[in-house]
Amino acid sequence: DRSIKIAPSILSADFANFGQEIQCIEAQGCDWVHVDVMDGHFVPNLTFGPPLLKAIRPHIKTVMDVHLMISPVDQYISAYADAGADVLTAHLEAGPHIHRTLQAIRGAGCKAGLALNPGTGIEDVDYLLDMVDLICVMTVNPGFGGQKFIHSQIDKVRKLREKIGDRPIHIEIDGGITPETAPLMAEAGADVLVAGSAVFGGGSVDNPDVYGQNIRAI
Ligand code: DX5
Ligand code: ZN
Repeated sequence: DRSIKIAPSILSADFANFGQEIQCIEAQGCDWVHVDVMDGHFVPNLTFGPPLLKAIRPHIKTVMDVHLMISPVDQYISAYADAGADVLTAHLEAGPHIHRTLQAIRGAGCKAGLALNPGTGIEDVDYLLDMVDLICVMTVNPGFGGQKFIHSQIDKVRKLREKIGDRPIHIEIDGGITPETAPLMAEAGADVLVAGSAVFGGGSVDNPDVYGQNIRAI
């Protein structure tokens, strides 16, 4: 389906080669570039901060889609916005004032994303729908690439799409996307698919055609 966007997660890229990795996946036809920020507190893993994002920003010609798995969030929003995030996504579970966080993200000039862990229901998004441009449904517990897709989230996505109605809100899926799980999510109403291992697996900057084959297989 042409309206489905593929957002490779550079968590699965060669960290010593980010510039080239990004050029390769964009040349191979990805739509967005997904950047996973982890703080070792909200999730049990550590990744990138604002200086790294600033360094890779000039290599990204498409959309820099930044997924903040950090808590607290608010005091870092301006740093990630300044680093060049186009979409800045915060977790509903990251603090008691998600509405304020989303206000601050839009105030910083970014599209606002709201991420939901697999154990979180969709009741709490009702009064946030006018505050978000994207809702990210986590189909693994956040923290690591290469985990197994959680099937209970298919029903969640279907209900969320119904709730969103004709509002211009993307539904992004993150975790465990493969050629097998991608069609299930597209059918349920998702339009942005994040994929780490399924895009980068088997390829390299010296063998970038594999990335293209992987992207087209999703
Ligand atoms: C997990 C991250 C994902 C991850 C996806 O916490 O948010 O973006 O990189 O990796 P795969 O596609 O390998 O499940
Ligand atoms: Zn992510």
